[in-house]
Amino acid sequence: MPADESSLPPSAVEELGFWRDELALRGKHADSVRRRLDPAQRAVEFPDFLRDPVIPLLRGVFSTTEPLTCLELGSGPLSSLAWGVDAKLLDVTAVDVLADHYRALLDEHGHGAFPVRPVAGTGETLLERFDPESFQLVYVRNALDHTDDLPRSFDNLVRLTTEGGAIVLQHHLNEGSHREWSASHHWNLDLGARGLSATHRSGTTHEVGARKDLELVYLSYRSYLLDGWIDVIYRKV
Ligand SMILES: C[S@@+](CC[C@H](N)C(=O)[O-])C[C@H]1O[C@@H](n2cnc3c(N)ncnc32)[C@H](O)[C@@H]1O
Repeated sequence: MPADESSLPPSAVEELGFWRDELALRGKHADSVRRRLDPAQRAVEFPDFLRDPVIPLLRGVFSTTEPLTCLELGSGPLSSLAWGVDAKLLDVTAVDVLADHYRALLDEHGHGAFPVRPVAGTGETLLERFDPESFQLVYVRNALDHTDDLPRSFDNLVRLTTEGGAIVLQHHLNEGSHREWSASHHWNLDLGARGLSATHRSGTTHEVGARKDLELVYLSYRSYLLDGWIDVIYRKV
């Protein structure tokens, strides 16, 4: 049973309200939600560059044709990686602080068979639950900037990635200030010295990619003149 919603912090109330509307198909992203729910359409929601070249590359690195072990942080109720599970490319462990609520919401809407069921946990405490280097691929979409302690969550993600594995991050640019620091946004993410930089709402900046155990492999930056989106791939070395 998920915790009583009246005991949740404002950030969680905001997230749950968002997903309650989306799963009822009355949110801003109803088309995307419909596609994620439909096995015949969800390939469209799967990140292109994961399908090719990232997954084939990792299969080569790890000499495997088995589904890659993948950790997704902050998946929400409807992981965009679901097609990769259907296609037996990925074995996804999805961790979200609101997972218990999301599973209840999915069941309520008759989507209990969605192929990725999130489990409860936080980016900040991942190492209490998983062994270091246990995932060949780590993925975060639109969620790192929602964590309370982004540097710690990111450090945990790097520690959980197997050497030679990949960390794939897809985020809105400077979403915190763009959303006028609504309750669920704690950080701005922007182009940094080695990929991503993260600036807390208090003003402190961290160059998250500037560390010896990460190699910057891919970077795509689109300013708000386009759609304000940044994709980054790191390799754990
Ligand atoms: C904007 S949603 C993104 C959901 C999904 N990745 C997507 O793109 O559809 C951000 C998610 O991060 C989760 N989240 C926020 N802080 C977290 C933390 N510290 N640890 C784990 N998940 C967190 C929220 O519960 C929410 O589901």
